[in-house]
Amino acid sequence: MTTTTPSGVQTAARTTATAAVAARATDLTKVYGQGETQVVALDGVSVDFRKAEFTAIMGPSGSGKSTLMHCVAGLDSISSGSARIGDTELTGLKDKQLTKLRRDKIGFIFQAFNLLPTLNALENITLPMDIAGRKPDQAWLDTVVETVGLSGRLKHRPTELSGGQQQRVAVARALAGRPEIMFADEPTGNLDSRSGAEVLGFLRNSVRELGQTVVMVTHDPVAASYADRVVFLADGRIVDEMADPTADRVLDRMKDFDAKGRTS
Ligand SMILES: Nc1ncnc2c1ncn2[C@@H]1O[C@H](COP(=O)(O)OP(=O)(O)OP(=O)(O)O)[C@@H](O)[C@H]1O
Ligand SMILES: [Mg+2]
Repeated sequence: MTTTTPSGVQTAARTTATAAVAARATDLTKVYGQGETQVVALDGVSVDFRKAEFTAIMGPSGSGKSTLMHCVAGLDSISSGSARIGDTELTGLKDKQLTKLRRDKIGFIFQAFNLLPTLNALENITLPMDIAGRKPDQAWLDTVVETVGLSGRLKHRPTELSGGQQQRVAVARALAGRPEIMFADEPTGNLDSRSGAEVLGFLRNSVRELGQTVVMVTHDPVAASYADRVVFLADGRIVDEMADPTADRVLDRMKDFDAKGRTS
């Protein structure tokens, strides 16, 4: 595995993942407000997030990136179209069912680490499972802790950890329940580039080595280059997609959009 080139691993992941969809939006529309204050945040978005794939979502501020993530993750209602996690259609689920689905099948990572200051790293990692009354699978937990490089830090409280380490705790917390899919909204937005690179490396490892599925919103072409593909949003629509992105190609594409935006 370690001798395989990154592109080789990516190809393998994609081949086995084509049939299996971890989450899907179909003609998804989200409208906020009414009348004059109405905002069409998503305008007929259709996208698949395949299993064991790392997808980055990019686009200008206000293009609907967070909204797409929230709607597909069942954190926000949709106006029309459909969203599903695995085989489960979100529309029509009762609140309780939705809460259970989020708890059991989805991992979240946000820009703010959202750790509880009174709990140590390990307690933070297992908190969602403790709340759900689920017993952590110890072997999986060990793997996760090792993957994110926190083995020597489990007894530390958040204030005793660097920003990067805190975000790694948040990544481990999202992974601990072995979710079907993880959603990360600008997970490196509060980190310096070195800590950011660490966290992105761990997200990528969780896909490559643990077979997890990650969807990440980012503004940063370098962060996007860790993904297997990039989906570009503008004005609530998907306007482009890129496979095997590099930071340079992503940057070029973004400049292209800027130029088009100015001339149209
Ligand atoms: N709760 C809300 N009520 C009303 N409008 C909203 C709400 N949430 C988002 N919007 C609007 O929907 C559009 C998309 O917002 P969204 O937060 O998805 O953008 P984004 O691409 O994540 O932007 P950013 O990069 O700044 O985080 C914006 O015009 C925003 O003002
Ligand atoms: Mg956002």
